[in-house]
Amino acid sequence: MRIVILTGAGISAESGMGTFRDKGGLWENADLMKLATPEGFAEDPAAVHAFYNMRRAKVRSCQPNAAHVALAALQMDPRVEVTLVTQNVDDLHERAGSRDVIHMHGTHLVALCAACGDRWPAPEVMSVETRCVCGGMARPDVVWFGEVPYHMDRIGAALQRADLFVAIGTSGVVYPAAGFVRAAQEFGADTLELNLEPSERATDFARSCFGPATEVVPGWVNEVLT
Ligand code: OAD
Repeated sequence: MRIVILTGAGISAESGMGTFRDKGGLWENADLMKLATPEGFAEDPAAVHAFYNMRRAKVRSCQPNAAHVALAALQMDPRVEVTLVTQNVDDLHERAGSRDVIHMHGTHLVALCAACGDRWPAPEVMSVETRCVCGGMARPDVVWFGEVPYHMDRIGAALQRADLFVAIGTSGVVYPAAGFVRAAQEFGADTLELNLEPSERATDFARSCFGPATEVVPGWVNEVLT
């Protein structure tokens, strides 16, 4: 069975990372347009660096949870072919043992030269002084609003071949990821939503299971593997 899994902030919520749009979420207390757009970075790079420095420090203090671990176990099973796509910029999937994770929104653990496009491991603290060897200013290698997500060709190809598409812990409001369920359905896949509560896209899914990721994800993986 070929499974494409899309994860969002909800899978890391119980690790302590918080989410963006829930009550008390990141975008309630921080201005998305200032911190997650190329225009915001051009206007105040120091503020953007401070935000991602805080997120980088936060993820280093968090551990993968039972949902990340269950997906890593699923990937190890030879009976299934799993394509794991995440919108998350943290490395909790990798630290749980997942391999070949497709980070469609990049990762804040990598620095990207805004001038030449070179990449290198992000230092713990980035600032306007963090420079590429070419002299260009470094930014976090995160896909901001108005930018094109990474690996779209690879994701599209996986959706075309999928028997099952599963969205986990994502509100379904940010495109193109929010459109994957419809695309998978058009290509003939079964679709399943695992989320704390019905998302914006809930009615697009054929099946759903609601509850905390640390419960519903291991439960579903167990079902697939038995
Ligand atoms: P959101 O914060 O928009 O949505 C999180 C989803 O997780 C919501 O539907 C919650 O109901 C659900 N959730 C919360 N706690 C959960 C739990 N314990 N178990 C299961 N589900 C839970 O986050 P995303 O959908 O990931 O992009 O946001 C998409 C993109 O918007 C992010 O990648 C980021 C953001 O702005 C950029 O920064 C470019």
